[in-house]
Amino acid sequence: IQIRIERTTAPKPRPQASELGFGKYFTDHMFIVDYAEGKGWHDARIVPYQPITLDPAAKVFHYGQTIFEGLKAYRTETGQIALFRPDMNMKRLNRSNDRMSIPAIEEELGLEALRQLVLIDKDWIPDAPETSLYVRPFVIATEAALGVSPSKQYQFIIIMSPVGSYYAEGIKPVSIYVESEYVRAVAGGVGHVKTAGNYAAGLKAQEGATEQGCAQVLWLDGVHRKYVEEVGSMNVFFRLGNKIVTPALTGSLLSGITRDSVIHLLRHWGLEVEERLISIDEVTQAQKDGSLKEMFGTGTAAVISPVGSLYWQGEKLTIGDGSTGELTLRVYETMTGIQTGRIEDPFGWRVAL
Ligand code: COI
Repeated sequence: IQIRIERTTAPKPRPQASELGFGKYFTDHMFIVDYAEGKGWHDARIVPYQPITLDPAAKVFHYGQTIFEGLKAYRTETGQIALFRPDMNMKRLNRSNDRMSIPAIEEELGLEALRQLVLIDKDWIPDAPETSLYVRPFVIATEAALGVSPSKQYQFIIIMSPVGSYYAEGIKPVSIYVESEYVRAVAGGVGHVKTAGNYAAGLKAQEGATEQGCAQVLWLDGVHRKYVEEVGSMNVFFRLGNKIVTPALTGSLLSGITRDSVIHLLRHWGLEVEERLISIDEVTQAQKDGSLKEMFGTGTAAVISPVGSLYWQGEKLTIGDGSTGELTLRVYETMTGIQTGRIEDPFGWRVAL
């Protein structure tokens, strides 16, 4: 796999760890590869980070033919540079591509692009606690044509951003608004793939949640408005007594890589994990009878996000004692420990570059 490299002659100043936030600063380089019908994916290159020029008729602007991924690079305590399960991201990227009628990208090309790009900008990987280098691969339909049909041209681009915690609150419990009007996705649609429209469609409900003083929404299924699906842009877990329940992948949920990792980890610890339908009634009933002990979201950006309370039908329901649960904290410490190399990785998830 040949990747042409053009290095920047004007490296940017790097932000202090305290000013990082999420996705505000971008590194010195980016990866691009083009696709054209007949030619396939070609001209892979790493170039200085810069604006891209697109025709205003590019299909991505009109019909949203686009997908993205998200993963993190870390500098370990022993000075290694590592990605977390990047092969999973490339597999999901191609599942998303398939659903959005975008041509597949060879997994090896994607992985090699990630490796070379992260290494070129390795000095951008922050190493303060809770920080990492967030990597954002994405594909856009670039053909200038307004007919509703799959684009004949695409670009696959990777950009990178040094980040702190996703939520300004850090690993503090957040309050969640149970959304009963809007829905995120339905089975048969695109809820199970990582495409821009799912996130745009969620903004309205998010605004409502913010007005209610909540950090995120809890999405219910689009058919019955009954079964819990996701929390904000994350998967969701409940500890009911000593059992852990997470919504089954019914076609409208994203199959999170953190979700998969947390399920593995919990089972590795000998805990019982059920992937099944879980209704909002079951959750609120469990809160009332005291069996709902903990609730947390999982995603690449925030890793683990504890839920302190739910707003549902005008009532505020506190989860446990409202603070970060014991299991939630153990999952968070172990996941971030494996990712950053602070603890041993028995699963082979951490991939040193
Ligand atoms: C996540 O990592 O949890 C995400 O869903 C990515 C987000 C920044 C859109």
